[in-house]
Amino acid sequence: MTRDLFADIAGIRLKNPIVAASGTYSYAESSLYYDAAALGCITTKSVSPGPWIGNDAPVIAETYGGMLNAIGLANSGLAVYTAPGGELALLKAAGATVCANVVGRTAEDYAEVCAGLADSAVDLLELNISCPNVKCGGMSFGTAPKVAAALVRECKKVAGAKPLLVKLTPNVTDITEIALAVLDAGADGLTLINTLKGMRIDLKTKKPVLSTGIGGLSGPAIHPVAVRMVWETRQAVGDAVPIIGMGGVMTGADAYELMLAGANAVAVGTAALIDPCAPVRILKELEAYLK
Ligand SMILES: Cc1cc2nc3c(=O)[nH]c(=O)nc-3n(C[C@H](O)[C@H](O)[C@H](O)COP(=O)(O)O)c2cc1C
Repeated sequence: MTRDLFADIAGIRLKNPIVAASGTYSYAESSLYYDAAALGCITTKSVSPGPWIGNDAPVIAETYGGMLNAIGLANSGLAVYTAPGGELALLKAAGATVCANVVGRTAEDYAEVCAGLADSAVDLLELNISCPNVKCGGMSFGTAPKVAAALVRECKKVAGAKPLLVKLTPNVTDITEIALAVLDAGADGLTLINTLKGMRIDLKTKKPVLSTGIGGLSGPAIHPVAVRMVWETRQAVGDAVPIIGMGGVMTGADAYELMLAGANAVAVGTAALIDPCAPVRILKELEAYLK
């Protein structure tokens, strides 16, 4: 007998609990390898109000058990994302459940994107609160509970009926403080974790490998951190809050471990950059593992 592996995320039914993580899926490339509707949900690259160019190369560095990236949330902006024939239209035509990852430099930016997606075909919104908050002197939205909560309140006002998930950064002392603050402000669920701050130095040039110096570490090296943070968050927020866990998931067993820690669904990121078919393989492994 096959068990139904669906996941309910804030009232949106994912047909299975494996999700493509933001920034590691693009319809043009990933759909060459597998059907977008095969996964529980596709989270798209961060969307800002207008186009963002991103950082100069080099923006990728390999490291033991993972990679560093400093891509800088490069994207074409809301109008291109929602245009006929754009990423959202292509994914919906393919029958996918879509979570739009939202980003901005200011609270007004975030609210503009949420408002622009309120009547769109997007199923879920995910606020990426680990980018710098220019208005707060460089403090990021995701490391200050009051700033994060205020942002969620602004976005909730304009998001219409779309469930609002908040993607938390691991670069904090206590992730549960931010989790509780955004839930209190009206967030409908949580996704965690984004990348950990990391750095590599080229021994020959004696200079940082990435153009930005510091970047975000992802991949299997961060998996135990993700398990710990999902666990802590689940203990703090109780059973009713939907959590999409992620961080270094390479196999079905890794996904199951995050679910045991408290995740309702699990996103796959870096693994898909090594093998584009990884999310589908991980889903099959999870099903076999549970059987
Ligand atoms: C190349 C790359 C690009 C990413 N871009 C985004 C992004 O645009 N928005 C976002 O919220 N997270 C982004 N992330 C973070 C991932 O969605 C995920 O949270 C993180 O990488 C941890 O999962 P993983 O270890 O499975 O990759 C990116 C990660 C990578 C490796």
